[in-house]
Amino acid sequence: MRLQAAPRFRDHREDFLARFGASGPACRVFFAPGRVNLMGAHLDYNGGPVMPMAIDRGTFVAMRPRRDGRLRLASSSEDGEASFELEGLLAGLPPASGAWWDYPLGVLGALAPLRATGGLDLFFGGDLPVGAGLSSSASVTIATAVALDVHFGLGLDVQAAVDAALLAERGYVGVNCGIMDPYAVGHARPGHLLVLDCANRSSEHVALDASKYTVAVVDTGVRRELSRGEFNLRVEQCAEAFRLLAPFAGDAANLSSVPLAVLEAEGARLDPVVARRARHVIEETARTLAARDALRRGDVAQFGAAMFAAHESLRILFEVSIPELDLLVELAAASPGVLGSRLTGAGFGGCVAAVLEVGTEAAFADEVRRGYAAQYHREPQVAFYRGSPGIGEVAF
Ligand code: GLA
Repeated sequence: MRLQAAPRFRDHREDFLARFGASGPACRVFFAPGRVNLMGAHLDYNGGPVMPMAIDRGTFVAMRPRRDGRLRLASSSEDGEASFELEGLLAGLPPASGAWWDYPLGVLGALAPLRATGGLDLFFGGDLPVGAGLSSSASVTIATAVALDVHFGLGLDVQAAVDAALLAERGYVGVNCGIMDPYAVGHARPGHLLVLDCANRSSEHVALDASKYTVAVVDTGVRRELSRGEFNLRVEQCAEAFRLLAPFAGDAANLSSVPLAVLEAEGARLDPVVARRARHVIEETARTLAARDALRRGDVAQFGAAMFAAHESLRILFEVSIPELDLLVELAAASPGVLGSRLTGAGFGGCVAAVLEVGTEAAFADEVRRGYAAQYHREPQVAFYRGSPGIGEVAF
């Protein structure tokens, strides 16, 4: 897709030229969005349904070929610069180093076998808050796949870019991420949520009328080091719940499809904490399917009510919320025009999402900023999104 040359893309190209010099072949710029998940919390790795929306902020990659056969990687937001001999990389990647450039390198590895055609400079940037639960890593990997597709003339379709992004994170960076993020980033459609069945990867687009509703994301500013460990613990607890319940659950292939009646009858076999995690997953699955049906009917009020219920479940049963997130959801609930709100992403910090009526944005932002500052003595970042144009190259 060709994207309009907005000032943010021009600025990124200028930054590239300032850093790497203005002479040489033309510099091209590619974009991939971030995403906000509105329903289906912690369901992707349980084989359940999720309802993300890609947003109009994301990753920019500026790219220019070089003659000397080297691949140079730099970023406007991360320290350090890496330079490799491209042909050597294509023969086999070095072990992941823990640096930010593992993500683009992993994509290169996932797209191999490739034939080196000269070298290239890749310069990363963007306007997506990092670590806020808006899927900055899938945005980087998909944007990289789109840029490399053009450089190497691969003719990839979107699904191939999604697969490369997944393989890069799982197989090279070493993060056992779910499938939601690259799917949401890759398959976005403006004015729609993606409904993705994470068990069989089938999906549909359901409209959220952008002339009537806005999606807000409010960032607590809290980033927790422990969140990766806590996330992995939730993944393990869900796996344990499924292992213990599966013998009683007929042909259920994952925790999301275990009937609630089975949990109620056999739940005593589970550690009480594990049983709470299972209840969240099973109830959130039903809630997300009901929310999808509501949205298909255009009933955004019922969709919003499901978001509030999801937050309560994440707070009490899944225990991934923190007081800062709870306060933001309470403030959203009290703000006129807000239909629903919940934490988004993994939790333990990051952001809440809210769906509100167009025209109520300013009042919402005021109330949330004031209420949060009264308690925590700093203002949260508030952003409004109406959906992403999708992935593609910027037409200058
Ligand atoms: C993180 C993961 C996603 C998903 C969410 C919870 O954002 O990257 O794959 O599991 O948490 O819904």
